[in-house]
Amino acid sequence: MSQANDTAGTRRDFLYVATAATGAVTAGAAVWPLINQMNPSADVQALSSIEVAIGDVEVGTQVTVKWLGKPVFIRHRTAQEIEAARNTDLAELKDTDSRNANAPGEAIDANRAIDENGEWLVMMGVCTHLGCVPLGNASGEFGGWFCPCHGSHYDTAGRIRKGPAPRNLDVPLTAFVDETTIKLG
Ligand code: FES
Repeated sequence: MSQANDTAGTRRDFLYVATAATGAVTAGAAVWPLINQMNPSADVQALSSIEVAIGDVEVGTQVTVKWLGKPVFIRHRTAQEIEAARNTDLAELKDTDSRNANAPGEAIDANRAIDENGEWLVMMGVCTHLGCVPLGNASGEFGGWFCPCHGSHYDTAGRIRKGPAPRNLDVPLTAFVDETTIKLG
């Protein structure tokens, strides 16, 4: 992937964050700035779980929402991304743990995606090396995410494949509320 595309993708990710903050993408993210000005306990309570509308997230794109003060990547994967993730042998992975609060076990793709078809991937957008926010939009050598801080490459299932990061990106507790809404936490 060219540098130009990477840059465009990053800009797109950023635009989604800005949209979320003004309330067009997720109600949970929209109320955050208001609640944040109230007392800390109300803040923490309100943030412990949020619902995110994902109906407008097209195949091959990602939105980033803020939850518990951290970015969460929600990607609608392409068939190619799903296939690449599912065709990866466990033996090729640096970290063979699913790191998925919903599906503890081996880091096979079925234990990383949140739906049976593997279309949806939800992960904390926090590099497991030193906590930078990795770049999305199919970046890096494995077509997933790339952390430019020290060069960690994650695959299309968010599993660490190359670089200093020791663990796969964490998958938070996530559930479908209905076909187009997910709940974090
Ligand atoms: S923080 Fe991501 S590679 Fe160091």
